[in-house]
Amino acid sequence: MARLEKHLADLSIRGLELTDPSQLTRMARALMTTEHEKPAAFDEAKLSAIVDLYIRTGIQVHSPGYMGRQFSGVVPLSSVIDFVSSVVNQPSSFYEAGQLPNVVERIMADELNRFIGYRPGTFDMVTTSGGSLANLTALLTARNRAFPGVWARGGSELDGPARPAVAVGADVHYSVARAAGILGIGEDRIVRLPLDAARRIDVSRVGPALDAAERQGLDVFCLVASAGTTSVGAFDPLGELAAVTRERGLWLHVDGAHGASLLVSDELRHKLRGVDQADSLAWDAHKMMFVPAPCTLLFYRNREHSREAFRQTASYVFDAQPGVHTALDSGDKNFECTKRPMMMTLWVLWAMYGRALFAEKIEYLCRLTRVAHAILEKQDDFETLHRPEANIMCFRYRPKWLADDEVAQFQVDIRNRIKQDGQFFISKVDVDGVAALRVVMMNHQITIEHFQMLLGEIRKAGREK
Ligand SMILES: Cc1ncc(COP(=O)(O)O)c(C=O)c1O
Repeated sequence: MARLEKHLADLSIRGLELTDPSQLTRMARALMTTEHEKPAAFDEAKLSAIVDLYIRTGIQVHSPGYMGRQFSGVVPLSSVIDFVSSVVNQPSSFYEAGQLPNVVERIMADELNRFIGYRPGTFDMVTTSGGSLANLTALLTARNRAFPGVWARGGSELDGPARPAVAVGADVHYSVARAAGILGIGEDRIVRLPLDAARRIDVSRVGPALDAAERQGLDVFCLVASAGTTSVGAFDPLGELAAVTRERGLWLHVDGAHGASLLVSDELRHKLRGVDQADSLAWDAHKMMFVPAPCTLLFYRNREHSREAFRQTASYVFDAQPGVHTALDSGDKNFECTKRPMMMTLWVLWAMYGRALFAEKIEYLCRLTRVAHAILEKQDDFETLHRPEANIMCFRYRPKWLADDEVAQFQVDIRNRIKQDGQFFISKVDVDGVAALRVVMMNHQITIEHFQMLLGEIRKAGREK
């Protein structure tokens, strides 16, 4: 505990101390007991060394140097309740195993739905171990509704005239394509919808793209929109897309893993206008709600649909006669049987601090990203690639002497050098097929001065070319 306290109090600029895996394996092995005949005596020094090694070799998510990924710089109180969860061990798929976790799931579903806008009492929410699993579960539900025979009779059901397909924005997260692969729809049957200049799904081209898919014999049953794309944090126009899906009878799933949290901000909620018309919404709290991973909420507009992903019976857990206690069970609605009581981490922050804690942090981080963008626009050796809508921003370092055909590799080299240096942790992503640097502001300890320092580091790394 003392070590963690010290770790949290250290606001020095640190990214990642990248260790050779074989060296780290050796260090981890050196900490293992050689006593196997009887349980070894508790060795406090060894436990301290294990904790130290764990802390030291991680991405320093609480440091202002962390600007690279989407998992949170966690609010420490949330980690405290996660620790309690690990002691009391109350998995949450069934009420009798985790009473409070199941109750707070219902409470948080209602609390957060105030910002989504589904009709109270008619929607549902299940927690899943990550946004990828939420996307898979939503697509499974949509597929089961559109092709009712497949769950029971399997893929052979699909060999008939129906050729199920899913339409997605070109920048959709890979987990959606993966879900299509898992569901037997096939990655090749993904219809990639064109984007506009802001990298949002271009609504004017959705109809023609769906018509073309239909002419090819594809049976599109679901459209996946992103509320915060992974690459640049773009928000697809949900209201307009909902009009299309309603007209064509398609399921609209919104992957809000990254950006759904903007809903809790009065200032930013408009980015998800129309989300109340989505059939399902994936929302990662372990991203912009600042809790430990994983903590994901999958909302369904229609409560009846949440039971359609997994149509199973199992007498040892699913009660045929629902009672007052089993009514809160979610085991029949989520993939996991034993599931982390993840909602405790979000609920404790909500209970103790309320909505404003999240809104303030999110607004600060989005504002910081906008200011960082304005600074970049004034630098003639940097290229901006989009106007940030949230807290993700992609750009390239392009000093005048850099040849055009070297731009992509140069960004990769710079990113690796910055990572190796260990001060800042940033990521990279291909934008229009060319590598770019990417910052994700996930930590309210970051100030604009830190971003200025990062630019200095990038220039320095560029000179080392
Ligand atoms: C838009 C989007 N969807 C889905 C995911 C996957 O979520 P998870 O990492 O929780 O599985 C991510 C992760 O970065 C994401 O950015």
